[in-house]
Amino acid sequence: MFRRLLSFASFALLASAARYPSYGTLQTTNSSGVLNVVINNTFSSVNLFDEHVMSDLANLIETLQANDTDIHVVVFSSGNKDFFLDHFDVNYFFPGYASPLPIFDGGIPTMLFPVAILWNITQLPQATIAVIEGRARGVGNEFLMSCDMRFASTSPSVLLGQLETSFGSNPGAGGAMYLAQQIGRGRTFEYVLSSTDVDALTAEYIGWINCAFDTADALHAYVDALAKRIALFPLAGIAGTKQGINAASRPGLDVIVQDAQDVILRLEARPEVLAFTEKFLAATNNQSIGPVELNYGEEVPKLYN
Ligand SMILES: *[C@@H]1O[C@H](CO)[C@@H](O)[C@H](O)[C@H]1NC(C)=O
Ligand SMILES: *[C@@H]1O[C@H](CO)[C@@H](O)[C@H](O)[C@H]1NC(C)=O
Ligand SMILES: *[C@@H]1O[C@H](CO)[C@@H](O)[C@H](O)[C@H]1NC(C)=O
Ligand SMILES: *[C@@H]1O[C@H](CO)[C@@H](O)[C@H](O)[C@H]1NC(C)=O
Ligand SMILES: *[C@@H]1O[C@H](CO)[C@@H](O)[C@H](O)[C@H]1NC(C)=O
Repeated sequence: MFRRLLSFASFALLASAARYPSYGTLQTTNSSGVLNVVINNTFSSVNLFDEHVMSDLANLIETLQANDTDIHVVVFSSGNKDFFLDHFDVNYFFPGYASPLPIFDGGIPTMLFPVAILWNITQLPQATIAVIEGRARGVGNEFLMSCDMRFASTSPSVLLGQLETSFGSNPGAGGAMYLAQQIGRGRTFEYVLSSTDVDALTAEYIGWINCAFDTADALHAYVDALAKRIALFPLAGIAGTKQGINAASRPGLDVIVQDAQDVILRLEARPEVLAFTEKFLAATNNQSIGPVELNYGEEVPKLYN
């Protein structure tokens, strides 16, 4: 399926400031060593993780990997009050879909491009923090798991989940593996196999997120202070500390490839997965804001009736 997409090769000649096309879905500001990144996919009412967001994230990663900025901490938040970052654009799986991005990553050839984006985020020398106001499901939650720290507001719009099992598929970028490390094996099976939504207080209680705050102000004030404090310290020390924590708490690259990514590549071609995906596209009016996108955990059993 992924092989159908356009090759990146033809874009290599256009190399200028940014390696991949820029779509403006990430608004960045920085001061005191902290880069604030607001994710706002203006091509989507649900902040879809689509080629626009992927392209902009890959460019951002390349900038941060160079270690030549003053940035020591990256804080990701959302410009969409209902969706921190939604699932993968499932149109990707259908014939005729074209993307300006490569299928597999140029630098990590065993990894699909979106999987490499998340892996690379875990590898960044900078500390990464997610500020969650809104839903994050599927790859949106896998993005959260690839950040070093997660903080949320207790707003009812915060709902976290891996919804892939309900499609007949699996979290292909390793989200369930990270969760198993983070919240334990039994709870990961419970939440991921049932493709349910977890609210902020539950997520805090089980350790899916670091902390939930009653107000947006308290959330932002806490994260701002934490980010500024970490940013005081030398980047090499932050990167070195991350290396050890990653080694102790993150699935390996080959494990993600074999037991998450290659599994989704196999499953996504199955007829029942494509049939459910078509049903989902119809029920969401092509992934637009509405009851199914907003309340997926509640709505998904109805799609099986
Ligand atoms: C941080 O801000 C400075 C000054 O506005 C700018 O020159 C620099 O490119 C920014 N860094 C990043 C990584 O966005
Ligand atoms: C940036 O730092 C990381 C972590 O220390 C290192 O692995 C990487 O090679 C560095 N990148 C460059 C371009 O120097
Ligand atoms: C996000 O983008 C929408 C347009 O899709 C715009 O109306 C909104 O103001 C943006 N939000 C932020 C915080 O930039
Ligand atoms: C991931 O990082 C590698 C370097 O380790 C780089 O070659 C590759 O282009 C990056 N890919 C993305 C999608 O960020
Ligand atoms: C659905 O949305 C995608 C973008 O996410 C677009 O490429 C596609 O053409 C749309 N399909 C329909 C049937 O509107």
